[in-house]
Amino acid sequence: MIADVSKTDKIVVEKSTVPVKTAEAIEKILNVNHNGIKFQILSNPEFLAEGTAIEDLKCPDRVLIGGRETPEGKKAIQALKDVYARWVPEDRIITMNLWSAELSKLAANAILAQRISSINAMSALCEATGADVTQVAHAVGKDSRVGSRFLNASVGYGGSCFQKDILNLVYICECNGLTEVANYWKQVVHINDYQKARFVKRVVSSMFNTVSGKKIAILGFAFKKDTGDTREAAAIDVCHGLLGDNAKLSIYDPQVAESQILKDLSMNKFDWDHPLHLQQYMDPSEISKSVSVVSDAYEATKGAHGVCILTEWDEFKELDYKRIYDGMHKPAFIFDGRNVIDVDALRKIGFITYSIGKPLDPWVKDLPAAPPS
Ligand code: UGA
Repeated sequence: MIADVSKTDKIVVEKSTVPVKTAEAIEKILNVNHNGIKFQILSNPEFLAEGTAIEDLKCPDRVLIGGRETPEGKKAIQALKDVYARWVPEDRIITMNLWSAELSKLAANAILAQRISSINAMSALCEATGADVTQVAHAVGKDSRVGSRFLNASVGYGGSCFQKDILNLVYICECNGLTEVANYWKQVVHINDYQKARFVKRVVSSMFNTVSGKKIAILGFAFKKDTGDTREAAAIDVCHGLLGDNAKLSIYDPQVAESQILKDLSMNKFDWDHPLHLQQYMDPSEISKSVSVVSDAYEATKGAHGVCILTEWDEFKELDYKRIYDGMHKPAFIFDGRNVIDVDALRKIGFITYSIGKPLDPWVKDLPAAPPS
C-alpha cells in the first residue's frame, strides 16, 4: 500500500515489536514495487508501558533509531532524530544499525521479565527459609549496578509483551541453532508459569487440600494496576487452576468488564498463532455456573472462604478488612499475590494469610509448597 500511494521518496518507520529482520523484508517488498521512488526503512521500537504511556512518551529513558549505515540511511536516521530532538535530550537518542534496534526491543523486554522471574524464583526460596523477599529485593536493589526497579515479587508477570517477546527471542535463537541460549530464555517463561501454579497450590493446600464448592473472591483481574488490559494476566491462569478444583469464583476488578473476564476464562489458553475466531472456547454458560463478576470488593468477599489478590490496585490497600473478615466463612484465608496487604494487621483481625515470598503463617508453613512437576 505504501508503494502504491507514494509519489515521492519516503522514510518508513517500523515502530511495532517485530521479529528481527522484518525491516529487511519491508525493504525488499518496497524496493521491488518502487516505481522509481526510494525508500529508507528505520526501526524505532516503542518503549511505552501501559498506565504510564504519556510520561514514557514525554520523558523517555531513551529513543532507539536503527537504520542502514549508507549515506541515505544516515540521512533518514538524522531526519527522525530531528523530530525527537524537539523534546528529547540528544544524549537519549541512540542510533544504531537496523538489526540492533529490532533486537534491542526484544532484549529489553526479555531482561525486564528475567528480573521478575529472578525475584519470583527467590520468593519461593524465601518462603522455604523464612527470609522476606521484599527485604532481599531492597538489599539487592541498593546495589547501583542492579537498581531497585522491577524487583517486586508477584504471582507472575503478564501483559501482551513479555511472554510474546521472549518466545520471539527463543524462536530466533532456535532458528540460528543456539539451543542453549533458547533454553536459557525459555526458563524465564517457565518460572513465570511455575509461580502461578505455586500460588494455586498454596491456596488449595491451605484450604484443607480442596477448594471444591468453596467461594473464592478474586480481587483484581488486570495484568497490572491502572489498566483494564487482561492479556496474559496471571489472574487467568490462577482462576483456571482454582476452577480446575471446582472452586466458585467471585471476581472484582475496578476496570475489567464482566464480558472480558468471562471471555478470558472460557478460552482454553491464549494462542498467539491463531486469530480470535479460531481460538478454542469453552461454553461460556458453563463458565458462568462457577464464576460471577461483581462490582465491588465487599460483594466479592461476602460469604467467601478465601480471598486472592491478583492485581496491585491501590484501593485494595485501603479496604476495610475487618468488615471483609466479618462477612467471610471461618477460618478466613487471604492470599496476597502482589504483597499489598499489611500482613500483621490482617493476622490480628484473625485472617490466615499468605503473601508471596514472606515468612509463612504457621498454618501454611507445613503444607506442600510446590506444584507437582
Ligand atoms: C512492558 C515494558 O515495561 C515496556 O517498556 C514495553 O514498551 C512494553 O512492555 C511493550 O513492549 O509494549 P507493560 O507490558 O505495559 O510494559 O507492563 P510492565 O509495567 O512492564 O509490567 C509487566 C508485568 O510485570 C505486569 O504483570 C506487572 O505486574 C509485572 N511486574 C512488573 C512484576 O510482577 N514485578 C515488577 O517488579 C514489575
